[in-house]
Amino acid sequence: AKEPVRVLVTGAAGQIGYALVPMIARGVMLGADQPVILHMLDIPPAAEALNGVKMELVDAAFPLLKGVVATTDVVEACTGVNVAVMVGGFPRKEGMERKDVMSKNVSIYKSQASALEQHAAPNCKVLVVANPANTNALILKEFAPSIPAKNITCLTRLDHNRALGQISEKLNVQVSDVKNVIIWGNHSSSQYPDVNHATVMTPSGEKPVRELVKDDAWLNGEFITTVQQRGAAIIKARKLSSALSAASAACDHIRDWVLGTPEGTWVSMGVYSDGSYNAPAGVIYSFPVTCKNGEWTIVQGLAIDEFSRKKLDLTGQELTEEKELAYSCLS
Ligand code: NAI
Repeated sequence: AKEPVRVLVTGAAGQIGYALVPMIARGVMLGADQPVILHMLDIPPAAEALNGVKMELVDAAFPLLKGVVATTDVVEACTGVNVAVMVGGFPRKEGMERKDVMSKNVSIYKSQASALEQHAAPNCKVLVVANPANTNALILKEFAPSIPAKNITCLTRLDHNRALGQISEKLNVQVSDVKNVIIWGNHSSSQYPDVNHATVMTPSGEKPVRELVKDDAWLNGEFITTVQQRGAAIIKARKLSSALSAASAACDHIRDWVLGTPEGTWVSMGVYSDGSYNAPAGVIYSFPVTCKNGEWTIVQGLAIDEFSRKKLDLTGQELTEEKELAYSCLS
């Protein structure tokens, strides 16, 4: 039998946490043969709710779940974890300045970075979900210098999956037949969902999405804005965040990272930029990646047209500004 993997979920008493922990305990994230021990962290005002989630995990009698740590102590939460999914954060409330929200999250991610660095298992893989996701991940990286930069990522897989979903709806094809969309840049409304290299499996072979959709106005307009603003549309409809799809995407992200992407398929991940595609280096930027043996690699050599170039630059610019704002909160 396999040794259990310890998976940390921060903000576990929240909306996404509640959708995510049962998926992990059922093997959706790491495989149906991989036992897990869940570490759940939240803050003291949510301690009672967190304990309620723990009670439900016990009641669900998940065969793969070998233990549950539910705590408000960040050191206890981080100790020995192999995978850390960072969902906890300070949400933007009405009337709050961007800088105030940034400042709260910078201080959370700075202190959690130290706890992970000191107490997590060596080679722990980190996925930041909480917004501003890219910049929270960058702060985590900066304040956990002994964790390799390649181990720190942020979630843009939800945006990637949303793009697949929009194409499948438009063409009336199975979402599983659509692949290789790309989310570039920031997990914010400046992100660029790119279909220029995306394909659909049809009865007569693999076809480019552009060839099948035959509606460039839609692809260059409504498609992009729908994906960019989908999070807000869900909040408007549900009065709550897109917790189900975010949790599912977090499982997809970790699963593909650990177990590998299928041959010929790439996915989108926010990773520490080396300046590929002339994206700014030194920010967490979403790129197309393939994964093998637990490591991601940016897909190289894709053609970027002029329309795309502008969009890659715009979202990169926003990330550079967010980085500056984050640093200004530190001093
Ligand atoms: P929520 O407000 O329901 O849950 C957040 C939880 O984090 C709360 O239980 C809160 O007590 C906890 N928390 C706050 N500070 C903490 C700290 N210092 N340590 C540990 N826990 C802490 O929010 P929800 O809907 O679950 O969303 C969580 C985050 O995910 C938000 O920042 C949201 O914007 C983001 N998000 C990101 C997506 C992505 O694709 N990257 C998609 C959807 C949401």
